[in-house]
Amino acid sequence: MSTSPPLLIAPSLLSADFAALRDEVRAVEAAGADLHHCDVMDGRFVPNLTFGPPVVRALAACATRPLDVHLMIVEPERWVTPFAEAGAAWLTVHVETSPHLHRTLEAIRAAGMKAGVSLNPGSHEDAIDYVIEGCDHVLVMTVNPGFGGQRFIESGLRKIHGLADRIARRGLATVIEVDGGVVPGRVAALRDAGATVLVAGSAVFGRGGEGAGAYAERIRALRAG
Ligand code: DX5
Ligand code: ZN
Repeated sequence: MSTSPPLLIAPSLLSADFAALRDEVRAVEAAGADLHHCDVMDGRFVPNLTFGPPVVRALAACATRPLDVHLMIVEPERWVTPFAEAGAAWLTVHVETSPHLHRTLEAIRAAGMKAGVSLNPGSHEDAIDYVIEGCDHVLVMTVNPGFGGQRFIESGLRKIHGLADRIARRGLATVIEVDGGVVPGRVAALRDAGATVLVAGSAVFGRGGEGAGAYAERIRALRAG
């Protein structure tokens, strides 16, 4: 009998039609999304720019599912309060941009959000060993962050296994989220390794603007594995 938490699907709005975000949020909720993954990029930590608190606020106003905000930015600690006020429910910072990670995680929880750390493909899980008790989730990047539609980096599976072991040994409730190149054929291995939150951009939205029917079919395919 399995006691593992249910699989949560977090479509990444990065692959949605940005000119129709309200429609995209509604369509993907109707299609069975559990969370909305929101990729915030600053053109410094990653070579792309997306959006900040004003857009997150607009998304929060039309979403009924929690917003899972992934900060791919330098100095993320400066943005904890603005994203909390904008309506983020989960907030994830990168270990590579956070010299005072323990303090930042505490600030995220104190602001009423679920706190998470993300690891780039080149970062080892040992880097968060001393803060994992302060993590509601760990986001394992399985592509180099910055763009949707990239190819899955295999070593991420080993990292998820390592994290899942550590979390189980310490009796923690931290969940493992995986982001990048998640497509239906990979889901069984990711679940077996211990991931329970799947971020999927192109695998749900395709080119964007395709509507609830197409998204529902793709989310079903992801859940089926
Ligand atoms: C990449 C972002 C991802 C991206 C995933 O930097 O963090 O959330 O949207 O896109 P896919 O699922 O297409 O790899
Ligand atoms: Zn992301």
